[in-house]
Amino acid sequence: MTRQVAASVTVPTAGGGYPVLIGSGLLDRLDELLPEFPGAEAAAVVSSAPVAAVAGRVGEALAGRGLAVAQLEVPAGEDAKRLEVVAGLYERLAGIPARRADPVLAVGGGATTDVAGFAAATWLRGVPLVNLPTTVLGMVDAAVGGKTGVDLEAGKNLVGAFHQPLAVVADLDTLAGLPAAEVRSGLAEVAKAGLAGDPALAEALARSAGPAVAADPAALAPLVEGAVRVKAAVVGADEHEEGRDGAVGRLLLNYGHTLGHALERLAGYRGLRHGEAVALGMVFAARVAEAIGLARPGLEDGHVELLAALGLPVGGVRLDPDQVLAAMATDKKQRKGLRLVLLRELGQPEVVPAPGRDVLVAAIESLARDPR
Ligand SMILES: NC(=O)c1ccc[n+]([C@@H]2O[C@H](COP(=O)([O-])OP(=O)(O)OC[C@H]3O[C@@H](n4cnc5c(N)ncnc54)[C@H](O)[C@@H]3O)[C@@H](O)[C@H]2O)c1
Repeated sequence: MTRQVAASVTVPTAGGGYPVLIGSGLLDRLDELLPEFPGAEAAAVVSSAPVAAVAGRVGEALAGRGLAVAQLEVPAGEDAKRLEVVAGLYERLAGIPARRADPVLAVGGGATTDVAGFAAATWLRGVPLVNLPTTVLGMVDAAVGGKTGVDLEAGKNLVGAFHQPLAVVADLDTLAGLPAAEVRSGLAEVAKAGLAGDPALAEALARSAGPAVAADPAALAPLVEGAVRVKAAVVGADEHEEGRDGAVGRLLLNYGHTLGHALERLAGYRGLRHGEAVALGMVFAARVAEAIGLARPGLEDGHVELLAALGLPVGGVRLDPDQVLAAMATDKKQRKGLRLVLLRELGQPEVVPAPGRDVLVAAIESLARDPR
């Protein structure tokens, strides 16, 4: 697969929608693939050191359009998602000076697109944004959907804004240098999209687990596309996470995340990747769904088989149920008592009030066993 847009998925929004371009060799064609920026004279490219070369290519394409390009570096990874970093970006934008028509282009993983997106949402009350994700998680999740933000000491993602990009350009070739553990972590979100939203995607992921983990662009293209389609449908139905009565809405995207977020919080966001935590969260959710009779036996086995094939954890973690339950109860998405996203069947998520403590404790304790 060379120099090919394998897919263009439209994210429908109130503003008319925007494309997510997925393929190989897209960096070679940025002059034609990047959207127009009417009235722009300058552009700010926000990236971190590991993807400086990609940011350089983006800068060249923008310079080719006659724009004055500023390269703005932020720390790699989660360290970028701090208000001090946003303040530094504002200073740099002021120095350009970046005006209302001048775009921000975010190059990197979810941490970079989150912080750059937040700066773009708030600088001059909002300037054009293009995301160029360079992690699997960024391509299938963080760069798509318009959520931007930073962390506080009090918690992750507590400050943010909705700000949809003009376009997302996901060049699968940029994943070549991404550590395998990061690829696997991103594939957990593909698994989530498949299990909760599109069973055919889960099957396709199971079939091509090996090449997908090896970040083979040909294997990844349909998987990234499938996961983006699931997210695009959910975002289109509920752009600002207002929730609709009775609708699962964006909560579909939260499958496996109630326990996952709790595990990340208990680990202090160190040592356990997001996708690893979500994988354990999905095994937990499948076990609870079977335990309360919502799902037929076999749901959990299917989850374990898929996630294990991707090299994601499916057990072997000893947890203190009281600590985990307390951390789950403080999840910011829990409003009226603890609720869980569970599957009745593959692709059929439901939001249910959490069952009794004994069921939850048993499912948490069962994660000590590794079922592989
Ligand atoms: N906005 C949303 O809707 C949304 C959704 C999901 C997750 N997120 C956020 O996304 C973040 C996680 O994103 P992530 O998993 O992409 O991690 P990340 O952005 O922290 O990137 C992981 C690491 O890989 C490096 N890296 C990135 N691309 C690389 C490449 N191509 N080659 C080599 N190294 C590379 C990064 O510098 C970093 O050190 C979290 O902060 C999470 O809150 C946001």
